[in-house]
Amino acid sequence: MNKVIACIGGDGIGPEIVAEAKKVCDQVASKYHHNFQYKDVLMGGCSIDAYGEPLTDETISICKEADAVLMGSIGGNTSTSPWYQLPPEKRPEAGLLKLRKSLGLFANLRPAYLYKELADACPLKEATGAAGFDLMIVRELTGGLYFGERKTVVENGVKTAIDTLSYNENEIRRIAIKGFEIARKRSKKVTSVDKANVLDSSRLWREVVNAVAKDYPDVTLEHMLVDNCAMQLVKDPAQFDVILTENMFGDILSDEASMITGSIGMLSSASLNDTKFGLYEPSHGSAPDIAGQNIANPIATILSAAMMLRYSFDLDAEAKAIEDAVQAVLTEGYRTVDIYTEGTKKVSCSQMGDLICERI
Ligand code: IPM
Ligand code: MG
Repeated sequence: MNKVIACIGGDGIGPEIVAEAKKVCDQVASKYHHNFQYKDVLMGGCSIDAYGEPLTDETISICKEADAVLMGSIGGNTSTSPWYQLPPEKRPEAGLLKLRKSLGLFANLRPAYLYKELADACPLKEATGAAGFDLMIVRELTGGLYFGERKTVVENGVKTAIDTLSYNENEIRRIAIKGFEIARKRSKKVTSVDKANVLDSSRLWREVVNAVAKDYPDVTLEHMLVDNCAMQLVKDPAQFDVILTENMFGDILSDEASMITGSIGMLSSASLNDTKFGLYEPSHGSAPDIAGQNIANPIATILSAAMMLRYSFDLDAEAKAIEDAVQAVLTEGYRTVDIYTEGTKKVSCSQMGDLICERI
């Protein structure tokens, strides 16, 4: 199979972790006789430094022409980096939001799974860690507050900032369908998360999700308020299968879900449109404090590459080979510093990539 992959290293640890994910893809390519061609493009702070804007039209068009996009992470330290002196629409994050919108990536899949080898790193009660959990956050990615109209005005000498949260029924329906389809391939339970006791957008969300659920009688649906969900995630994460939610709730809950797996460095994600095309990136950020030290955990990005093989290229066996290789290195006791505990073997970012390659 021949595939073109647009690669966005990005900022901070991004380039290091993407390099490891490419190494793993190359190993898969040679073992399974595929040909992956990479097209490196800039986005985020590095694009601001090079072109004065976080996302150029050229990057968008190379991504559109590719079969999939593999990304590291973007952004810098929001208190110290000069990127954050720029107007909001010129900052690194604006590039990512625009890229998601330009590519129509409305469905963000963020699996959170507790490896039994990392149960000790789970910050929850020992019994909760021992029970394990395996959930998938399905986050709406191109609507809601992050894309609504926003402005800051001064009225009668008082500054007021306004962000708009709006959803139409079509936006809700297509992400709900994704959520139910995914649940069907998992444990057949959807928890739809909203704030329907307060927000109109959430009441519409619930109405549309209930209507979509009628087409999936084999999937159990429950509704949960977002504040309760934040609490349930730390109390009993094993109760969840698919968490279906809007953009901002999903942003926040997915960080929480990843942290309870022991490290945010383990969590992959896929952002999909309604074709096979997708952008694959770790759920974590650019960790500027540890950039360039070869100590970052590349596993989230490597597992994102596995999702790319599965969802965009239909290479299920190859994706599984990567996931099994990750499981094998963990079982053998190899750990990057973020998941290191006494008695395990500490390895660098590039060593972790090599070890995973060797097991494919
Ligand atoms: C994420 C990030 C982004 C988001 C930021 C960088 C715009 O937090 O992917 O979760 O909020 O979607
Ligand atoms: Mg986030």
